[in-house]
Amino acid sequence: MNVVKVGLLGLGTVGGGTVNVIKKNANEIARRTGCKVVVTKACARDISRPRICNTDDVELTTNPNDVINDPDIQIVLELMGGDEPAKSLILSAISQGKHVVTANKALIANHGNELFAAAADNNVTLAYEAAIAGGIPIVKAMREGLSANKIEWLAGIINGTGNFILTEMRDKGSAFADVLKEAQELGYAEADPEYDVEGIDAAHKLCILASLAFGMPLNFKKVYTEGISKITPLDVTYAEELGYRIKHLGVARKSDKGVEMRVHPTLIPETRLIANVDGVMNAVVVKGNAVGPTLYYGPGAGAEATASAVIADVVDICRQMSQSAENSVPSLGFLSDELQELAILPIEEIVTAYYLRLSVKDKPGVMAAITTVLANNGISIEAVLQKEPKHGSNAQIILLTDNVLESSLLSALKEIESLDSINEPAIRIRVESLQ
Ligand code: HSE
Repeated sequence: MNVVKVGLLGLGTVGGGTVNVIKKNANEIARRTGCKVVVTKACARDISRPRICNTDDVELTTNPNDVINDPDIQIVLELMGGDEPAKSLILSAISQGKHVVTANKALIANHGNELFAAAADNNVTLAYEAAIAGGIPIVKAMREGLSANKIEWLAGIINGTGNFILTEMRDKGSAFADVLKEAQELGYAEADPEYDVEGIDAAHKLCILASLAFGMPLNFKKVYTEGISKITPLDVTYAEELGYRIKHLGVARKSDKGVEMRVHPTLIPETRLIANVDGVMNAVVVKGNAVGPTLYYGPGAGAEATASAVIADVVDICRQMSQSAENSVPSLGFLSDELQELAILPIEEIVTAYYLRLSVKDKPGVMAAITTVLANNGISIEAVLQKEPKHGSNAQIILLTDNVLESSLLSALKEIESLDSINEPAIRIRVESLQ
């Protein structure tokens, strides 16, 4: 199998996550690309520091030139962040004919025009999926999936730290500074957290999204930017009472007059899907003139979530490097000779939680009889509700169960439905927490 050697600049949260996911999913990546992707070298400021990844088979160095000048390395992953030396290193890698994948939104927003031109001149790819909205494949969606559309506007929650802070302030009434500290400990926040709370990080991402949407050069300096540091728990509460949530939104819109690019706290009606995007999750709504509004949702930060986007770019580059048309975009995403026959589970073997509604005679011992049957079948109850009978009708018992094997639930229901006190077949609806 073709081996593709990858070198890393930066071995922090995203770099460590990338090493882990490349190892963990080596088989899947090979089945999708026909290549064995291996990280051979990584540059870190301090190579003795404890890491979130195993680096036993990775050569570590403190000199980034050891990575970009290595003739065996075909793809350089720039995961160090910041302006310099990242920019010069990327330009140097590009000039040596290497493909580059970066998660550096500030660099793309500020210098993307120059960097993309250099990549085009050298006939290599400079990919940046991980720069916007962490693990959400928003670049791919906008560049490919929505390519039939004229994009009218987009609006996104594109800073996980800011969203985490606003969510915790609403849910727990926590103070701004405490939540920010927690976000830093979880590895969500930028090295300079002002970038998160003052909206600069979101502005970097919005600038890139606007260029992707409207086909214009990057223009970071024109993004209007307001942060969330002045939002108090009181504002959050009052907005809530009015039926709104406060979210830190990046908005880009194109009209006959021109393009708007703005990042600021925004009240959104609580009924909107995007108003319910909480914690470190990100979401972007993109309105195309053919498709209408579309929503993309997922983790906006974190080691492996961001690594997912970094590696998707690596997979794309491996496919481009391949000579075969089938490898370049396999029809089902995996190479045709890598497709596997897998066992498809019958419904009786599925495990889910259940909502059950039982129509019962209003007499002593009914609830006890039902819960005894459930207990005997190893079914745990999560919640119970009883509604009194109306106008001579039956009482209604509503139960939420814990996860249960379908076949166990069916045998328990058979027993329950044969009880004297049960009048009608149970209504059962599966519950998915989708976590
Ligand atoms: N600090 C960024 C955020 C990390 O919180 O969204 C991902 O870009």
